[in-house]
Amino acid sequence: MKHFYIIGNWKMYSLSSDAHIIATSVRNELEHLESVDVVLCPPAIWLTEVAKIIHNQISHLHVGIQNIFDQEEGAYTGEISAKMAANVAQYAIIGHSERVEHFREGPEFINSKVHAALLAGLTPIVCVGEREKNEKSKDKLIDKLYKLLTGLTPDQLGRIIVAYEPVWAVGASSPDTPENANEVATCFQQSIYKNLKVIYGGSINENNCAEFLKQENLSGLLVGRASIKIKSFVTICRKAEAVAKAE
Ligand code: PGA
Repeated sequence: MKHFYIIGNWKMYSLSSDAHIIATSVRNELEHLESVDVVLCPPAIWLTEVAKIIHNQISHLHVGIQNIFDQEEGAYTGEISAKMAANVAQYAIIGHSERVEHFREGPEFINSKVHAALLAGLTPIVCVGEREKNEKSKDKLIDKLYKLLTGLTPDQLGRIIVAYEPVWAVGASSPDTPENANEVATCFQQSIYKNLKVIYGGSINENNCAEFLKQENLSGLLVGRASIKIKSFVTICRKAEAVAKAE
């Protein structure tokens, strides 16, 4: 049976009260999933609160941090290390295109964060994607991903999740095609690591999610806007469970 990861990236949205409502609803609505791991990634300031609501009770619900710093500790005002995040979270989104765009994160820095996350026991969700819609070169994408994953052992490659997120589809009006996302996932697996877990992200909602989940080599979804709409997110997770069971 297939197993899916549905990651909700809340970005810089929600106040404490919203975080409480979303986490409580997700916990209550998604108590009985068998084939889906759900990861809520709220703004870091709400991590502990969200973790307290969903933790210790339901083993398929987790929390993730949206970003980490690559150093273990030190005089880095405002930053959060992987080790600190691992006190509360199990997953870390690393190298999201919004961090590349707004904070100029480069491949070496992202690679260093991936290593830091693994060392701290977090599961990195490593984002990669082309900037423009007509830039369809798979070789370029593979090359990009190689740089982000430099130095990882096969065992470590088996522990990470790669999120294929075409930058042009993130926060946009329509996603990539499920077939292309599957082709990209297949290329990554053929050239980097056979059992690499690849998920898709970019304009996913409750209406288009199932077509992506039905693709052979996709292991889940990274959901942005729809992850803070409780009904949409719960529906996406339930559809993932249904697709997994139907396989
Ligand atoms: P979106 O964001 O679903 O709102 O397009 C996806 C992401 O940024 O991960």
